[in-house]
Amino acid sequence: MTRTPQKSDKFTFGLWTVGNVGRDPFGEPTRAALDPTYSLQQLAERGAYGVSLHDNDLVPQGASAQERDRIVGTFKRALADTGLKVTMATTNLFTDPVFKDGAFTSADARVRAYALQKTMRAMDLGAELGAEVYVFWGGREGAEVDAGGKLLDALGWFRDALNFLAAYSESQGYGFRFALEPKPNEPRGDIFLPTVGSALGFITTLERPELFGLNPEFAHETMAGLSFPHALAQALDAGKLFHVDLNDQKMSRFDQDLRFGAENLKAAFFTVMLLEESGYDGPKHFDAHALRTEDEAGVWAFAEGCMKTYLLLKEKVERFKEDPDIKAALEAYRVRDERLEALGRFSPENAEALKAEAFDLPALRTRGPGLERLDQLTVELLLGAR
Ligand code: GCO
Ligand code: MN
Ligand code: MN
Repeated sequence: MTRTPQKSDKFTFGLWTVGNVGRDPFGEPTRAALDPTYSLQQLAERGAYGVSLHDNDLVPQGASAQERDRIVGTFKRALADTGLKVTMATTNLFTDPVFKDGAFTSADARVRAYALQKTMRAMDLGAELGAEVYVFWGGREGAEVDAGGKLLDALGWFRDALNFLAAYSESQGYGFRFALEPKPNEPRGDIFLPTVGSALGFITTLERPELFGLNPEFAHETMAGLSFPHALAQALDAGKLFHVDLNDQKMSRFDQDLRFGAENLKAAFFTVMLLEESGYDGPKHFDAHALRTEDEAGVWAFAEGCMKTYLLLKEKVERFKEDPDIKAALEAYRVRDERLEALGRFSPENAEALKAEAFDLPALRTRGPGLERLDQLTVELLLGAR
């Protein structure tokens, strides 16, 4: 196993991640903007597989048609030169003040229509660049106050927009798979569809649910005080893991977008375990940025760190599976009982038999499953002691 990123690892970065200039609500940028083609070269040298982008990460808002074509042409040549792919595309529906009270869920029909127009154009761009996944992160789809009384309408408008855009993609033959990216808050006080579970429920109400899945983000579930591995497992179980945003975050803080593995090493480990063992074969997409303190060298240290930590954790996953003590502890943890498991498949006879079954409850109550030891073994493994 190598710790040097390979194309086959499918590591990808948003153009906006390495391009983050370190602006925050209190302070001006601390770094110069990077030219997208320069970012492609730098990422390619470090073994990345591809990039993702918002329409305006590449084509500035308000560019003329000629300007757009020139920029896109240069970018396509840089993709060909570096061998990088555009794996995911999305729309910036949050920077322009026109979206201050929502895009697809604005109470102003003109804003909703403009959001559709901007997204169709961004989908045209994504398709032209070869993206297969299209992400919807509804950063401005939310509210600080509910006095506008639009909560139910907003969900309906959101649904209408997603139905429209899926139909547009199909009519153009783009073949996009759409990934909803839930987030609980920031920039809005409350964002609609705040968690993986909310988005999974909403997808079932769409006209073409099979075209929609999830782009869960480590930091977003963590901000909500939830477990990212648990959310990831739910998306996988539903067959809806279409994309993933890897980063890190302290709970109950502002949106930190930390380097993958920087904060919650154990949760990062179980994240890698789920991704590697589930057969997920989409991009491993880093949606984070270098600390605001950093210069450009810090940006590339950040990017290299995300990939290296993933690969190191992948090694640890292998060792976890091979470690004899962990293996034995895992076997002891899972108690098999073929007869009772068979009774768990419903038939009227099985139901009767189960109702008549006598359980040794004192023994079940007092049995320790060995999780303290198993968790300690995991910690020792992560600390390099096994
Ligand atoms: C955030 C989000 C965004 C989205 C991006 C792609 O917290 O700002 O994670 O980075 O992932 O807009 O849709
Ligand atoms: Mn985020
Ligand atoms: Mn994200």
